[in-house]
Amino acid sequence: MTNRVDGPLKVTGRAKYGADNNFAGLVHGYVVLSTIAHGEITAMDVTAAKSAPGVLGVYSPFDPLGLNAASTPIFGETWVPLRSKEVAYYGQPIGFVVAETYEQARDAAMLVKVSYHARPALTSLADGLATAEDAPEARDGSPSELSVLADGVESIEDALAASPVVMEATYSTATQHHTQMEPHSAVAVWESGVMTVYSGNQGANLQAMELAGALGLDLGSVHAVNPFVGGAFGGKARTSAPAFLAAGAARALGRPVKAVLSREQVFSATAGRAATVQKIALGAERDGTLIALRHDSWCSTAMDRSFVEPTSHGTSREWYATQNLAISQKMVPLHIPPTTFMRAPGEAPGSFALESAIDELAIALEMDPIELRMRNNSTAPPGKDLQWSSKHLDECFRIGAARFGWERRTPNGRVEGDWLVGLGTATAMFPALRFPATVEIVLRDDETAVVSTSGADPGTGLLTVVSLVGAESLDIPAERITPRLGDSAFPPGGMSGGSTATASTGTAIMAAAATVLDELLALASAPGGPFEGVEVSYADGQVLGGGRAMTFGEVLRAAGRAELAANGSSAPGEELTKHSFSSFGAQFCEVRVHRWTREARVSRLLGVFDSGRIINAKAARSQAIGGMIWGVSAALHEGLEIEENGRFANGDLASYLVPVNADIPDADVHFVQYPDTLHNAVGAKGLGEIGMVGMAAAIANAIHNATGVRVRHIPIMIEDLL
Ligand code: MOS
Repeated sequence: MTNRVDGPLKVTGRAKYGADNNFAGLVHGYVVLSTIAHGEITAMDVTAAKSAPGVLGVYSPFDPLGLNAASTPIFGETWVPLRSKEVAYYGQPIGFVVAETYEQARDAAMLVKVSYHARPALTSLADGLATAEDAPEARDGSPSELSVLADGVESIEDALAASPVVMEATYSTATQHHTQMEPHSAVAVWESGVMTVYSGNQGANLQAMELAGALGLDLGSVHAVNPFVGGAFGGKARTSAPAFLAAGAARALGRPVKAVLSREQVFSATAGRAATVQKIALGAERDGTLIALRHDSWCSTAMDRSFVEPTSHGTSREWYATQNLAISQKMVPLHIPPTTFMRAPGEAPGSFALESAIDELAIALEMDPIELRMRNNSTAPPGKDLQWSSKHLDECFRIGAARFGWERRTPNGRVEGDWLVGLGTATAMFPALRFPATVEIVLRDDETAVVSTSGADPGTGLLTVVSLVGAESLDIPAERITPRLGDSAFPPGGMSGGSTATASTGTAIMAAAATVLDELLALASAPGGPFEGVEVSYADGQVLGGGRAMTFGEVLRAAGRAELAANGSSAPGEELTKHSFSSFGAQFCEVRVHRWTREARVSRLLGVFDSGRIINAKAARSQAIGGMIWGVSAALHEGLEIEENGRFANGDLASYLVPVNADIPDADVHFVQYPDTLHNAVGAKGLGEIGMVGMAAAIANAIHNATGVRVRHIPIMIEDLL
């Protein structure tokens, strides 16, 4: 249980987020957004805006700041504003007004007159289903159409037809947005041919790469800085419009430029989560053994088709043992803002459908839903030979059921006064991944060590993990570690996304520590070193040899060195040919539905997770609870309503509902800790995303248990329960 090393800075307001950086001569930019969903900008009259008080520049597709297409190997092409007169969604950044003050920039932005040649817009997923397109294969190579059939079975339809019990239903999930606490923002400084950009993101070296591409600069001329990030969740993986615009304008004007999206602008000027429609069919023996599982998904995507919410892909990679499996993943291009990764992309909405369907099947079979899940517990992803490296889902359910009092659940819930009370459960899974990462460790003669990498701590607690794994690897107290993240000048640290950061960074820290300690021993026993000619080893934070012991600081001082530095790298490798890797979990919830008002209140939450080794129990618990609450939010609160003209009707925090403290009961979290060193040396499998997976289904399942009403879409509203 370690407090966050950056906690005091954060709670006292001393942590400097991107927009908190101020410089002499700093000016302010305001982003102009489109007010149609589809068409061409035929003209932008900026005369009034340009002559408004304090205005320094007005940029648009007619005066585009010299921004180019930008990409990274991880994400492919990232959308860069002002590059086209084509409008593909309502709320698209189409202009940037820079003035001496924020208010002047905002006022002038209101004076920009845009003329459009509007074209018909397609904004509704339901309307677009007819023109759905096959999705490309997923990033891990999973195909978007897959059918694994038992010998002698011709098609999934035949397998379903031959199943004694069949459950078939269609589920849907709403368009959502990350609504990070910190709105997307940037401060850009152009000085001596170097562009420095302060902007919250999920990997400083990736952001530097994108900015360099957009600005046509060498990577070495771009410096991305983001020591603090106010929430990211996938929505800051790519560089945001304000960062591109602030950087372009800083170069054009030779002044530092700050750009901060308003809360309302964040909803459309940055990417969110796609809406989905999912058809599931389950065929089973009467004893619950799955015979067939079919999962067909449609997700909305923007017209650039740059992201697919891979709900069916998740089902094909993970989940249940079944003799026959078929998935398909389609996308529906709409005139809506870009979609992107959002916490547990694929698994979060996918698990709502699959785990609701499993509950429905359990009811049809008159079986306990946990028993049904355990009967079909997979030992490997369906259709694959590679067994899970470690899987303790059964233990998660066993412990969870006992802690939660599952045995007191009845098929029709219970009544307490005016409240109908139900219990629900669901499986959680999220693949255990990692990315390449490089870490530098510097041992200093004052007995401290600096551990640095360009990865980000978007609130996950990675900075503290760096400190803890660094301390463990060097065998010294964590107080003597200075962890550093969030600067592209540090070695490339990969991305804090995909629940990978602890595994990727931690493994690289261990590699760097091994190297730097080897070099320390070589230095100690080298000619002129304090252990010259003596066989030395390192233990308990000390160099040992010839009956003597010295700290690394003492060795460095004796050798006349101020510091000793080494890099270490890690990347996924051979282990991928030997096992399949995933985190697992069991979600439980108790929901009360008021008999008369039909409001649904969550009264208890429990998540039990098999995420490998937990490095910091305190931060891990917070991370898991955050995910579980997000599951509640998805189930009962969040959903963007798209007007016919493509505008989000509720794109603000007054009407895009997220839970407040009063909506959330005590949440209980338990980790079954089996370090998975088959996956990586640290043994962590990742827990950034799994906390939310399955929870929305668990809530829908609990509501059914309480009321007998099955709601197959989220968010679930009062009117669904009338
Ligand atoms: Mo996450 S959606 O990979 O930040």
